[in-house]
Order: sequence, then structure tokens, then C-alpha cells
Amino acid sequence: MAVKLVRSGLVWFVLVGLLLSACKQDQSAQLILPAEKTVSDSVLVFEPDHVDLGTVKEGEEAIGFLRVRNSGDSMVNIVSVEASCGCTVAEPEQRLLTPGGFTRIKVVVDTFAKQGAARKWILLTDDAGHHSKAWVTLHVQPNPHLDGTSRSIFQGKCAACHFEPAKGKVTGPEIYHAVCAMCHGSDREGGAGPSLKHHNNAAVLSAVIANGVGSQHMPGFAVDKGGPLTAAQVFSLSQWLSALDE
Ligand code: HEC
Ligand code: HEC
Repeated sequence: MAVKLVRSGLVWFVLVGLLLSACKQDQSAQLILPAEKTVSDSVLVFEPDHVDLGTVKEGEEAIGFLRVRNSGDSMVNIVSVEASCGCTVAEPEQRLLTPGGFTRIKVVVDTFAKQGAARKWILLTDDAGHHSKAWVTLHVQPNPHLDGTSRSIFQGKCAACHFEPAKGKVTGPEIYHAVCAMCHGSDREGGAGPSLKHHNNAAVLSAVIANGVGSQHMPGFAVDKGGPLTAAQVFSLSQWLSALDE
């Protein structure tokens, strides 16, 4: 009886967790991963499932290792390892794991444009199509050498997610979910950047969006600042944002 209760409690816990994570994934992370891929149902288990990479200066790499074990009774192949942000690269030392065997996954986070506490998930897929998820956390300190840097989140491999998705988007919400939600939250609640609720001055918004705040943390998004947004896109985005709350 007690066992049954515990079991059904667990099932509910997992179901509610799934629903919650499905909602959360919905807007900001849909760029890279469909919501159903976030379930941890693989025989490959992270031990532990959270590793702190410590404190690094912005622009430096944060490096750490996750340990993963095959808890099943047959061979398992790690087919892919993905991370929530393309600034994070995760590579297993070994892909084919015998029953009971384990390997390490090296995680390298490029900390450019980060500040304060950051958290990234790592998602592993096995050859049965099952998934296992772990987290790395880190703390990023200001780096005075980056003042006035010409590097930007719109360049290089970062562009695939921080620049390209803006292309062809017309309405405010489309543009917001393509290139803003990852830092300001899918509901404007804030994240790496501050909450954008109750910003009702369209002119101020459009100036900040177009020109940024003078740092790599919130770069200017206008085309003439090296960003992805046309004047028409900046206009519809700021009109929409400014009209959302009183
Ligand atoms: C595959 C898509 C993808 C690529 C490529 C990518 N990012 Fe991101 N980035 C995201 C997503 C999604 C988030 C929000 C989720 C998260 O924080 O992991 C994010 C969040 C961020 C943040 C704010 C959150 C934080 O970590 O403080 C910064 C800064 C950032 N990315 C910088 C970069 C840089 C620099 C690069 C290139 C080296 C890059 N990103 C490449 C998808 C990407
Ligand atoms: C890579 C992360 C990142 C992305 C992407 C991003 N922002 Fe920001 N944004 C920030 C950070 C961080 C700040 C705070 C700036 C600071 O540190 O002074 C900020 C500040 C702002 C502010 C000023 C808020 C205030 O209270 O002063 C506005 C408005 C804003 N962002 C709008 C946007 C919009 C709209 C988009 C999409 C076009 C966007 N941001 C994309 C990180 C980001």
C-alpha cells in the first residue's frame, strides 16, 4: 500500500514536472529542441546530474566534466549530446557504454556576453531515442578587458540562434520570441536580462532595442549596429512591447 502510494505520487510528480517543463520550453528553447525531448528516460544516468563549473571571468572558457553511467543490462550508444545554448559544447570521451560502464562528458562554456549566474542544460540521446538531462552552473565575473570589445553575439556560430532567427519575422511577438525571449524570458519575466514588463514608452524601447545599452550584454539590434533588425522590425517590436501592460 505504502509503496503504491509512493509510486503514484512519483508518477504525478513526473507528470506535473513534464507539463511544467513543456510549458517552459515552449517559447525560448523551441529554437533548438522540441519539448518532448526533455524527458529523462534513458538507462544512461548522469551521476550527479548537476555540476558547478565555478567562477570565471567573462570571455574565458568554463570547463567541467559530467559523469554518465549505463544503468541498463545491454550496450548503449550515445548518439548525440546537445546543450541549451550554442555557447556550450559537450563531448563524451566515449560513446559506446557496456552495462555498468561509464564515461565522462567534457563541457566547455564560452562565457562571452554572460554576467553573474548562468545555468545550462545538457541533453544526451541514446540509440533507443531516450534522453537524459543534466545541468551545469557557473558564475561569471566582469572582465574589464572586454570593455569596448568588437566581438558580438551576432557573429560567428552564435549568429545561428541570436541573429538568423529574426529573418522574415514581421510581428512584435514573432520577433520577440525569435531573438529576445532567450534573455528576457518567454513571458518577459526576465532571465539573463531584466524583466521587460511595464515598459510602456515605445520611443525609449525602440532606442534601446536599436542601439543597445553600450555593452555586449545588450547589443544594439539595428542593422546599422551589426544587429539583425530592420527599422520596421524595431518599430513593430517596440509598439507591441509598449502596449502590453499599463
Ligand atoms: C543553437 C542555438 C544557439 C547558439 C548557436 C548560441 N546560443 Fe546563446 N542562447 C541560446 C538559447 C536558447 C539561450 C537561452 C537558454 C540558455 O540560456 O541556455 C541562449 C542564451 C544566451 C545568453 C544569455 C544567457 C546566459 O548564458 O547568460 C548569452 C549571453 C548567449 N546565449 C551568448 C551566446 C554566444 C556568445 C554564442 C556563440 C559563442 C551563442 N550564444 C550561441 C541559443 C544559442
Ligand atoms: C544575450 C542576451 C540578450 C538578448 C538576446 C536581448 N537582451 Fe535586452 N538586455 C540584456 C541585458 C543583460 C540587459 C541589461 C543591460 C545592462 O546590463 O545594463 C538588457 C536590457 C534591455 C532593455 C533595458 C531594460 C531596462 O530595464 O533598462 C530593454 C528594453 C531590452 N533589453 C530589450 C530587448 C529586446 C526587445 C530584445 C530583442 C530584440 C533584447 N533585449 C535582446 C540582454 C539581452
